[in-house]
Amino acid sequence: MSTPKISLHHKPLETVPAKYCRIILTEEKASVHRFIEAEGGALSYKMGVGKWSEVTPRTFRTIIRSIIQAAKGHQMEYIVIEPTAAEFPQLENQTDSWIVSTVVENLLLASYEFTKYKSKQKDTATELKEILIVSPKSKEIEAGFLRGLTVGTMVNAARDIANTPGDDMNPKQLGVAAKELAKGSNVTVKVLGLPEITKLKMGLLQAVGKGSHHDAQFIVMEYWGLKKPAASAKVEAKNKPLVLIGKGITYDTGGLNVKPAGGMHDMHMDMSGGSSVMAAIVAAAKLGIKKNIIALIPAAENAVSSTSMRAGDIATSLSGQTVEILHTDAEGRLVLADALTYSERYSPRAIIDVATLTGAALVALGQHASAVMTKDSELETILRKLGEESGDLVWPLPIWDEYKQHIKSNRADLSNISTNFSRYGGTIEGGTFLSHFAPKNVPWAHIDIAPRMDSIPSDKLAKGATGEPVRLLITFLEQY
Ligand code: BES
Ligand code: MN
Ligand code: ZN
Repeated sequence: MSTPKISLHHKPLETVPAKYCRIILTEEKASVHRFIEAEGGALSYKMGVGKWSEVTPRTFRTIIRSIIQAAKGHQMEYIVIEPTAAEFPQLENQTDSWIVSTVVENLLLASYEFTKYKSKQKDTATELKEILIVSPKSKEIEAGFLRGLTVGTMVNAARDIANTPGDDMNPKQLGVAAKELAKGSNVTVKVLGLPEITKLKMGLLQAVGKGSHHDAQFIVMEYWGLKKPAASAKVEAKNKPLVLIGKGITYDTGGLNVKPAGGMHDMHMDMSGGSSVMAAIVAAAKLGIKKNIIALIPAAENAVSSTSMRAGDIATSLSGQTVEILHTDAEGRLVLADALTYSERYSPRAIIDVATLTGAALVALGQHASAVMTKDSELETILRKLGEESGDLVWPLPIWDEYKQHIKSNRADLSNISTNFSRYGGTIEGGTFLSHFAPKNVPWAHIDIAPRMDSIPSDKLAKGATGEPVRLLITFLEQY
């Protein structure tokens, strides 16, 4: 896949060579798109965006994406845009750096296509090759531009990993992908194999992975943007790392409680939480964020075989708590539970886990936002705000103690689904299960990204993985 080269142009639009098609946003209806000839033989492409007063940060992102759709549709090879030419009153409070970063990110996201498995490569002659952004010269704009390039590139990297078929992007390969992603950055990657997982007693990760000939792996990524605290020393509050945990189920058949045919084929994206935390920590390093950050990815394939975990099996977690596996398709919470316990060794300042955990989240929210669950109301408010700021929207569901009784097992400490097999509140039950493993007294949020795993037409993105919530995570790492 080749994404266009994007650069800033600090001179007036008139100085841009004629080969660049001028994209001009107008107040006409969004359906009005037309070419007109500009001076000097250049072409202009006028795109109606509706009333400027009605453009919001949310619709602004979509407008930027539709520029790429138009450019692709008309085989434009060189385009130039001037984001500051349009005056959107609802964007007045946004910083220049936000505007430029948002423009660049969304140009990159909309340009992305997953073509690795196409035997015939596309004709590159008429591909979009270059985008110029006309803008004043300032440090802030420069910084926003570089941020946008990093963010857009890393979101697309996460999409590449998630779009790759499960047999290719298996747990070991996910570890390799983590190392490749981290290359040239200050992120270190350690991949624990099955012997180490067994020795550590991560019994839940082991249980989920044991049905597959692809061994489970545990991927540990560390970025010491401040300084690595000495092993013995008591860690100062500000040096405590932010820990991201991402579900790394490289393929989810459902296990012995196998998924129905129509519900399985997308499950190569069940490691989208994993790929997004990988991309976020590497982006943080590339942006030089001065914080300590850890990403943990429990990786396994939930497969069907005679060695698979059975419904009714009981496994012992890393925390020591025992879990009755009532449903083998509720595997994500199992692998995340052991990762949450593992995170304790870092004395985290805060923990966010990200997972394509429940179909019920799509029932609750549709496909426009991920579900966030946390007992820390400050963290909830921040994540909602940063969701708006980044474009990766999240919406809260409760994790009250009332839900705990549903997953109290007869035969073990906990069960991985409701003991009466009720599907009501399925997303909350997932979060509630995890709350038993989250380190005590540490702000922790669980984000169920199942609703945003797969793109929808209104996203104006290629079909397949969205790369959410990489943008939200980066913004969180920058601001929390
Ligand atoms: N990976 C799935 C959830 C999922 C479904 C993500 C659709 C994206 C789109 C998860 O492992 C799963 O199977 N969850 C079960 C939980 C149930 C057994 C309690 C589900 O949602 O049906
Ligand atoms: Mn499942
Ligand atoms: Zn799953």
